[in-house]
Amino acid sequence: MPLVPSYIQNLSNYVQGKPIEELQRELELDHVDKLASNENSLGPSPKAIKAIQASMTNLHRYPDATGYELRTKLADRFNIKMDNVILGAGSEGVMSTIIRTFLLSDDELISAANSFIGFRVLANASGKKVHWVPMENYHYDLKRMVEKVTDYTKIIYIANPDNPMGTYITKNEFDAFYAHIPERVLIILDEAYFEYAQSKSDYPDSMTYRYDNVITLRTFSKAYGLAGLRIGYGFAHDTLISNLMKVKEPFEPSLIALTAGMAAMDDISFLERTIETNATGYTFNKTKLESLGIEIVPSVANFITTVWPSESQATKVTQALLKKGIIVRNLKAFGWPKCIRISIGTENENERMITSLQSILST
Ligand SMILES: Cc1ncc(COP(=O)(O)O)c(C=O)c1O
Repeated sequence: MPLVPSYIQNLSNYVQGKPIEELQRELELDHVDKLASNENSLGPSPKAIKAIQASMTNLHRYPDATGYELRTKLADRFNIKMDNVILGAGSEGVMSTIIRTFLLSDDELISAANSFIGFRVLANASGKKVHWVPMENYHYDLKRMVEKVTDYTKIIYIANPDNPMGTYITKNEFDAFYAHIPERVLIILDEAYFEYAQSKSDYPDSMTYRYDNVITLRTFSKAYGLAGLRIGYGFAHDTLISNLMKVKEPFEPSLIALTAGMAAMDDISFLERTIETNATGYTFNKTKLESLGIEIVPSVANFITTVWPSESQATKVTQALLKKGIIVRNLKAFGWPKCIRISIGTENENERMITSLQSILST
């Protein structure tokens, strides 16, 4: 018997967007813009920063394992009960708890191929059979996903909007899909970019789908600017939540993350500024990219994926941008070798990115 199961040996290490300091060291650059990891270009919520500073003196204490205050606050905000809320070290933390809680030996999973890499790693590391259904025109192909449902299906994962494509499933599409899914199958609706997408009138806010088998995942990492803290949350039926609470790491999220989450929820003006900055940046980037003749995938999140004529051109452009101090995400490792994902930044970052692309393409 091997020490390490083959499905673990076969995993690849997660390669994150290049850290700013690494590129500065390598190329001796004074200034670097990171538009690679869909972070909040405005920084963290200022109210969260203040609350973190005030809570430092309590760091010798363990956090509240029940997450009472933040779960109650989330429940009040979304008009549900605390028993319908779970917290985690990022929404990926909750995802990991879900995978550890519900899967029996013959259970199978279904998702889209080349969608969110975090789920891909967790699903593959579970050792269970996963049906990765190819996307259709950069969208989840829900019809083909339904065709993969069998008596063994336990979990279906949908990122809505998707990362790395930024496309979304509409209300009508979700309703038609849901009608075909047996009640014993759990549907994870990962809404990491909810705050950016919610203004689309046909975007299905899953809070209106409080079905017993739907788990909604959301996060403080994106619109609230707290990616480095690791705090996210899930909403589901209380039976699912009570079992997830038994399996989650007791002291996840950390004390500071809980404190910051509470404060970030009250930072409405920061959230509004974030959404507005993103909307303006999206329109600017989309218009400029298209006027440069670059194909884009229309997105409702805080990034735009660009499609290049060939893998080698996508690699060349990524490298050329790096040399100019702009880190973007080449999507080869995600399974999209001709694509580069560019996070939407501040006005200055967006302008520098476009100017740099312009100069790269003209040489
Ligand atoms: C679709 C999707 N889900 C989840 C996450 C992870 O969020 P968190 O930082 O809350 O774990 C991301 C982050 O990039 C994402 O794109």
